[in-house]
Amino acid sequence: MTTEVTTSYDPLLRRIHWATAILFIAAMLIGLYCGLQAPGTSPRRELLEVHKSLGVSLFFLAILRLMVRLATSAPQGPGSFSPMVRIAARLNHWALYAILFIMPVTGYMFSSAGGYSLRYFWTFSWPRLFAHNQTVEHAGEVAHGALAYLVYLAVALHIAATLWHVVVKKDETLARMWPRASRNPT
Ligand code: HEM
Ligand code: HEM
Repeated sequence: MTTEVTTSYDPLLRRIHWATAILFIAAMLIGLYCGLQAPGTSPRRELLEVHKSLGVSLFFLAILRLMVRLATSAPQGPGSFSPMVRIAARLNHWALYAILFIMPVTGYMFSSAGGYSLRYFWTFSWPRLFAHNQTVEHAGEVAHGALAYLVYLAVALHIAATLWHVVVKKDETLARMWPRASRNPT
């Protein structure tokens, strides 16, 4: 991978981005699989604990990421981007940031208010901050399930757009986020 870029994202933000990408896609695929299985069956029960643990980890990673993002400067969009592409990219990134916070919160509402367990990677149990409450449980369940469609769409568009830039446009989009890119000022 060439490092001939004039600007790229902050090095810590780039590392968090790729850690997020791996954990997020794992959480998404496990969630999708569990959603297709009957409640109470195995391995759905065990996999849901992994799904929830990944989701909680992603929530804390999202807080760290947002802090790093606000404290550092983002590179200017490549000159070759049309205004429409810039707006589409910005909307997609905003949606992904929103998802990184809303999915863990709605999942937690569902789990906590429903009285379900939340064992963190086979170690300790997270406290249930919501007391048993059917309305909160239902709201969390419905929102989590409905937003899952936005998740699939936003992630698919994000990956397809990256592929488009790499394969068709052959521009510096991926290099801006590549872990080992240089960060020379323009
Ligand atoms: C970024 C974090 C998360 C993502 C991307 C995510 C994504 C998903 C997806 C795509 C599904 C499948 C939806 C369906 O087919 O109905 C799902 C199901 C589920 N998620 Fe999450 N989730 C996240 C975090 C959490 C957290 C933190 C919890 C709980 C603490 C949680 C609890 C659940 C439960 C219980 C289901 C099963 C729902 C059912 O089958 O009725 N999720 N999640
Ligand atoms: C294989 C999976 C992924 C690839 C190839 C990828 C690629 C990229 C690339 C190339 C950029 C830079 C775009 C630019 O500079 O305009 C970027 C930015 C971004 N990506 Fe991804 N990404 C992936 C997964 C994800 C996932 C799962 C999320 C979150 C759920 C995510 C969230 C973001 C966000 C929010 C940005 C904007 C930069 C920021 O402000 O933090 N990405 N991604």
